[in-house]
Amino acid sequence: MSTKKNFKLDGKTINFEDGDTIMDAALRAGAYIPHLCHNPEFTPHGSCRVCIVNVNGRQVSACTQPAVENAEIDNASEEIMSQRRSLLQMLFVEGNHVCPGCEKSGACQLQAVAYYSNMLEPHFTHFFPQRSVDASHADTAIDFNRCILCELCVRASRDVDHKNVFSIDGRGINSHLVINSASGKLGDSTFSMTDKAAHVCPVGAILPKHQGYEKPIGERLYDKQPISIIGDVAANESSEKQKDVEQ
Ligand code: SF4
Ligand code: FES
Repeated sequence: MSTKKNFKLDGKTINFEDGDTIMDAALRAGAYIPHLCHNPEFTPHGSCRVCIVNVNGRQVSACTQPAVENAEIDNASEEIMSQRRSLLQMLFVEGNHVCPGCEKSGACQLQAVAYYSNMLEPHFTHFFPQRSVDASHADTAIDFNRCILCELCVRASRDVDHKNVFSIDGRGINSHLVINSASGKLGDSTFSMTDKAAHVCPVGAILPKHQGYEKPIGERLYDKQPISIIGDVAANESSEKQKDVEQ
């Protein structure tokens, strides 16, 4: 008779199957581990490190770390929360995230994870990088100021759309998102609003045109309940799309 394997996450028993990461098993059990570059539909990427947890005294990213039996995992101590806050603060100062003027405010995963993690100020000095907005596409605008380099659009365009519209160029602090077209503009690429890549951005970097500020403040995704209950932006977009198809 086979017994289920399990580990403890903040004292709660979580069952897992062979091949699961800590994140896979936790999300399936309804336990929230904050994350930004993770989307269960794609191969784990392990770049944002916001899913940092402590496993038997060692810090790892939950989205890439295989689950092991009887592990004691800390996802919520002040030590872990404080490191997560620092990572979030670095993401905020590294780009230009002007939340009060952003139409994604209230429905942005970066902002929602920051609220969940009790990040109340940026702490670090803002970089104020010079970045552009690409409005060359008929249906979609890209605001590079808000890109957190999660590479979800890169993975979606490559692995699902089979178009390779996006990639990351440069290294370290000079890393940036680029569009694979002759002009480097989205309008000259094969990108379409029906692409998977158009619906995975956790922040307000890839935005549909013609429907700006459609939902008023107070009715946006995370306005009434936290991300730990509501879940990811992309998952909610998929279920909204499914409802539209059924209507
Ligand atoms: S545009 Fe959005 S999905 Fe693409 S890398 Fe930047 S933040 Fe991630
Ligand atoms: S969600 Fe795990 S590293 Fe980004």
